[in-house]
Amino acid sequence: MTTTPEVALSDRLSAQVPRYTSYPTAPHFHPGVASETYRQWLSALPAGTGISLYLHIPYCDRLCWFCACNTRQTRQYGPVTRYLAALHKEIDTVAALVGPAIRVRSVHFGGGSPTMLLPADIVALDRRLRQAFDYAADAEISVEIEPNDMDEARFDALAAIGMTRVSLGVQDFDPKVQAAINREQSFELTRSAVEGARSRGARSVNLDLVYGLPHQTVASVEATVRQALQLRPDRIALFGYAHVPWFKKHQTMIDEAWLPDARERFAQSTRAGEVIVEGGYEAIGLDHFALPGDSLAVAMRTGRMHRNFQGYTDDDGEVLIGLGSSSIGRLPQGYIQNNPATGEYERQVGEGGLAVSRGYAFSEEDLARGWVIERLMCDFAFSPAELARLFPAHAPGILADARRLAGDDRGAVFAEEHDRFVVTPEGRPLVRTVAAGFDTFLRTGKARHSAAV
Ligand SMILES: C[S@@+](CC[C@H](N)C(=O)[O-])C[C@H]1O[C@@H](n2cnc3c(N)ncnc32)[C@H](O)[C@@H]1O
Ligand code: SF4
Repeated sequence: MTTTPEVALSDRLSAQVPRYTSYPTAPHFHPGVASETYRQWLSALPAGTGISLYLHIPYCDRLCWFCACNTRQTRQYGPVTRYLAALHKEIDTVAALVGPAIRVRSVHFGGGSPTMLLPADIVALDRRLRQAFDYAADAEISVEIEPNDMDEARFDALAAIGMTRVSLGVQDFDPKVQAAINREQSFELTRSAVEGARSRGARSVNLDLVYGLPHQTVASVEATVRQALQLRPDRIALFGYAHVPWFKKHQTMIDEAWLPDARERFAQSTRAGEVIVEGGYEAIGLDHFALPGDSLAVAMRTGRMHRNFQGYTDDDGEVLIGLGSSSIGRLPQGYIQNNPATGEYERQVGEGGLAVSRGYAFSEEDLARGWVIERLMCDFAFSPAELARLFPAHAPGILADARRLAGDDRGAVFAEEHDRFVVTPEGRPLVRTVAAGFDTFLRTGKARHSAAV
């Protein structure tokens, strides 16, 4: 980061910008797109469409104080049972609308903690899905695993549903950091969860790590990374802690005086990335790493990587159907988000309906800008010729924005090369701020986001 003036850099590190897991971003979804629209969009999917499913389980046995996910703690299982009954009903309703000629290519169980479900409920959920939808023979089945949940019976359930891919939450191995975020999890427990998943069929294991947490230093983050590398995960996601206490009240349990500042966060993420790359991993996009043979690394090298609500993915399906409260889907016509209030979600699907609370119908310009933002987030570059080929009507306006941005930066962060616009290697940590330059909504938006790095 030598070419960027000091003041501008620190301003940008603390700038608040979206993570661009969608465009437009979720704060711009609105209630004008509701269940009736979704019903039409689902019914219009052509036969033979390959789809991905995302199932959201908004429960955890305990609450980590740093968590920004859509979840809640429950000590009793009754609410989970009621929720699962509704989820089964929603599966049937959606499957009836899309018809039998739709092929499921991937399923992702996320949360919250899907592994807090009883083993029999995990198996029953999978059975209902397979009865309702036609699965491709090689469908990916991925599961977010909370290592503290795991026992033999749960691993057996994951093997029974054909899990192929898992992602384990680690965050940090330092006991002092773990105490400050209410997330105790020993290295040995994590090791046994990785081994358990691999021995039950997971071909690819991801570990989630987080920097910018309370009490972390460059040295402590490096120590966590070195421990994680001992487990030889196929992928590592390295997230910057998003401190959003105005949105997640339990984060007020974290004293802001314990948090590293923007410069320290940047140093932690830089050092962590260096150690992971020295360990033989390829840096992927903003915050992921993968072994060179992993499908995400292959997708990156061949320009086929994508970004969706789960982050970076090699899943190139055009249709993502979200199931469960708060889940977000993407169809060719736009985005759909289910009601985040579980009670309301259960009532709506219980009556045999859909439970959309808001969404967004794409304009042609949204698709063009969304394409540029996705390519920047995935490839750190985009081709003007490709933009003009895909979106001829909107390319001139967007390229004018690109030239203005590259001019503003005088080549430090974003530059025009002979046949493409690129985020410079030094500018990569700031790719979200570059993407924001193409976001017409940001100029009018009122949403608050987390720090850029
Ligand atoms: C749904 S959880 C993963 C599965 C499981 N619940 C667990 O914690 O092991 C998703 C991941 O999001 C990340 N995450 C959650 N809250 C975050 C925050 N405030 N800032 C950055 N990353 C966060 C964590 O790395 C976490 O593992
Ligand atoms: S980090 Fe995972 S286990 Fe912790 S509260 Fe969030 S979703 Fe639940």
